[in-house]
Amino acid sequence: MSDRPAVILQAANTKPTVRPFVLGIETSCDETAAAIVSADGQILAHRVLSQIDDHAEYGGVVPEIAARQHISNLDGLILKVLKDSQMTVADVDAVAATTGPGLVGGLMVGVMTAKAAARAAGKPFIAVNHLEGHALTVRLSDDISFPYLLLLVSGGHCQLLAVYGVGQYRRLGTTIDDAVGEAFDKTAKLMGLGYPGGPAVEKAALEGNPLRFKFPRPLMNKPGCNFSFSGLKTAVLRAAEACVEARGALYSDDRADICAAFQHAVADCLTNRLTRAAALFREKAGGGELPFVVAGGVAANQFLRARLQQTCEELGFVFCAPPLALCTDNGAMIAWAGMERFLADPTIDDRDVSPRPRWPLDQSAEPLVGRGKKGPKS
Ligand code: KG4
Ligand code: ZN
Repeated sequence: MSDRPAVILQAANTKPTVRPFVLGIETSCDETAAAIVSADGQILAHRVLSQIDDHAEYGGVVPEIAARQHISNLDGLILKVLKDSQMTVADVDAVAATTGPGLVGGLMVGVMTAKAAARAAGKPFIAVNHLEGHALTVRLSDDISFPYLLLLVSGGHCQLLAVYGVGQYRRLGTTIDDAVGEAFDKTAKLMGLGYPGGPAVEKAALEGNPLRFKFPRPLMNKPGCNFSFSGLKTAVLRAAEACVEARGALYSDDRADICAAFQHAVADCLTNRLTRAAALFREKAGGGELPFVVAGGVAANQFLRARLQQTCEELGFVFCAPPLALCTDNGAMIAWAGMERFLADPTIDDRDVSPRPRWPLDQSAEPLVGRGKKGPKS
């Protein structure tokens, strides 16, 4: 486990003045994270412990290892965050934790710890939807008003949503197979670039020629706003096989060219679907300059950010994206989503809410993948 340097986005020594303060805990996947935010959007403390080293040899997240690492590290991390902000748990006004969707073992660790801390301090517990954490982060970093159009791109999700308010989401499109982050991770694995794949593919693509390989753009120009990435993954596999056949091995220029062509194909798919969703959103939300927000781990990709920004400007939308440190999973996004819910209902207490491995943001939307007893994954 590597302790990523604590990212204190705003100085902790400027004495917070605006209560309430919310402690947020994130354990839904392979990051153990905690943060404290104040009602005026200051991040008073913010730490992320990455488990990348623990999962790297398996090429992906192993749920049992993840849960065990959360158990070992969460208490200490919370104590560090409290110390960073010169608080005790009695000084926070509520404790929020990711309660779903995610890996159930990790969710249980975060939720049980948060409930115990909240109960001990006599404060409310707030159950946060991880996706809502990503969806609202931009209101912490940039103070964006509702409504906005959101592209949520992460390891488990790829969705276009109209965001009308806290808890008010309408899904305009979703992936019918793989999530976009998953496509990055699988591409990286095929290229032998390791885990997590997104940053590795982005780096390799910088040296590549995007025109050498012609990859498909699944669902491009098709009706609706859905995405599909599984065909792209197969095309990457075929291209890699062809390189090995032609040259006896996959060389670094092959890798770079495949990654660049892959990233261009992803950008074309995302911007094409965004254009359609923007028209739908504008119909409902009216004219004027509307905000477009990209969030989730894949939003850390500079190439995709630039392409989305360009499309957004052509469509007359205002482009917004959280700072890179708040795109991938972190505790501040959970603390902030908890804050938004707490401000909307100061009597809130979710002490009876249990971890939910599946928890869609738009509960009325039909699941397209991951149908199951507990509801849709995306
Ligand atoms: O939001 P996140 O941290 O966790 C989930 O909620 O899934 O997103 C993780 C995903 C991974 O698939 C990772 O490869 C991808 O985000 N990612 C990136 C980049 N940084 C992280 N994908 C493309 N480019 C990046 N720079
Ligand atoms: Zn996430």
